[in-house]
Amino acid sequence: MRSCCTFVLGALLLAGLSACNHSSRAQLTAAAVQTDMPANAGRGRAIYQAQCAACHGRDGAGGQVGPALRNESSRRTAAAVRAIILQPEPPMPKLFPVRLNASDVRDVSAYVETL
Ligand code: HEC
Repeated sequence: MRSCCTFVLGALLLAGLSACNHSSRAQLTAAAVQTDMPANAGRGRAIYQAQCAACHGRDGAGGQVGPALRNESSRRTAAAVRAIILQPEPPMPKLFPVRLNASDVRDVSAYVETL
């Protein structure tokens, strides 16, 4: 029983460590992808509908939870939108890197700029 617990704890610790590695790798990827590749706002639209629309409303009209994102380009650059997605203020959830990868963040930020 005791060795079984040790095994389970060890496995959890390993899982935690590999999750850390994964997220720092994803952040490195984020830096690389964001500077080297052009954003794809069309792809970003699909990501927005799946990950953001529930709170920010269809087409950025605003919802029960999140503020409207219409005309966001007059308030923020795509880089600033990206920064919010990477380090959101609660209650906005942190979707990167678990739900969104670096290309997703880049593309959905470009889409937000078109709202
Ligand atoms: C669970 C609900 C929720 C989800 C999902 C969500 N957000 Fe948010 N978002 C919020 C809330 C709430 C705020 C306001 C946070 C605050 O008080 O500063 C916010 C703020 C923002 C802001 C700043 C807006 C402003 O005027 O201050 C941007 C930009 C934004 N979200 C973009 C996104 C994008 C893009 C996605 C999808 C990738 C997303 N959010 C997903 C709830 C959400």
